[in-house]
Amino acid sequence: MAKIHAAITGVQGYVPDYVMTNAELEQIVDTNDEWIRTRTGIEQRHILKGEGQGTSVMGIEAVNGLLQKTGTDPMEVELVICATVTPDMPFPDTANIIADETGMKNAFCYDISAACSGFLYALTTAARFIEAGAHKKVVVIGGDKMSSIIDYTDRTTCVIFGDGAGAVMLEASEEEVGVMDSLLKSDGAGRAYLHQKAGGSCYPATEETVARREHFVYQNGRPVFKAAVSGMADVVGQVMQRNQLSSDDITWLVPHQANRRIIETVAKSLDFPMERVMVNIHRYGNTTAGTLPLCLWDWEDQLKKGDNLILTAFGGGFTWGAIYIKWAY
Ligand code: UT7
Repeated sequence: MAKIHAAITGVQGYVPDYVMTNAELEQIVDTNDEWIRTRTGIEQRHILKGEGQGTSVMGIEAVNGLLQKTGTDPMEVELVICATVTPDMPFPDTANIIADETGMKNAFCYDISAACSGFLYALTTAARFIEAGAHKKVVVIGGDKMSSIIDYTDRTTCVIFGDGAGAVMLEASEEEVGVMDSLLKSDGAGRAYLHQKAGGSCYPATEETVARREHFVYQNGRPVFKAAVSGMADVVGQVMQRNQLSSDDITWLVPHQANRRIIETVAKSLDFPMERVMVNIHRYGNTTAGTLPLCLWDWEDQLKKGDNLILTAFGGGFTWGAIYIKWAY
């Protein structure tokens, strides 16, 4: 019997209408457009405004578009996984809310929390369900409303992040396409450098945790930068090696969009030309679990069946990884 592969058969993204420019941030914190552009590559980010608007709002938009463009009856979807660190609420999972609002009533649903690597973790998990023959159609969403956990008095983090989400349809295929390999890593020691301290069971919300601004992202940027570069270069290198791929064999490198300088350094260390690296950080900033599906969405028109893609990410946890995909359409 032919091996079953998990093939991406559609991708759709969504970013909110409101655009926060570097000029607007100049009015809020002591920063400037020149610093943000040269140190991060970011020119603007999209922000989800309005009371009661959570990550699901963006996930629902992406999934509705995805179901429509792939001609999928929502009742055919058997599993929905949403990667996010900004769920609508601690429970139920955001995947449940998205499925309810989009009519995917036959699916079981859950969230994966792996920060910027969330989409890689969710895609790998979903692929295993398909490869095992358990399910035929799975929707994987990656998205975050980072503006809900960003301290807009902290110039070191508030200039970086934005809101956005993307979703892919994953289907069983007997062709040599889809998720071909995946290498995921974590190191909990990295939590010292990147975390949101309060709001969980350790430090539930109190007046004090709010006053100490502990419900916001804390990041010590330099060690994260270094670990991100070496972590992503290492796993991409390993995935290339064990699949006998040289950089010439890879059509697109699809990196997490945290900092343009990180992306360039990783590409250089792999001897990979920037012309074949997806970069849209200037438009969206860092949307955490949203960056990879938003890249696939932006480049979907240019992708051809059989193209070799390597997706890679690094983020809070630490978590990181790389996935080798043969594009299916
Ligand atoms: O996606 C999850 C994983 N996260 C990442 O991969 C992010 C990794 N880290 C980074 O991308 C970078 O470390 C940052 C973009 C966060 C910071 O850039 P950096 O080049 O590492 O800056 P730095 O923290 O070393 O700070 C350099 C200087 C400091 O001033 P002094 O102490 O040299 O006087 C900062 O206070 O830049 C200052 N600075 C700013 N200046 C203007 C920091 N943020 C800003 C700002 N505007 N927004």
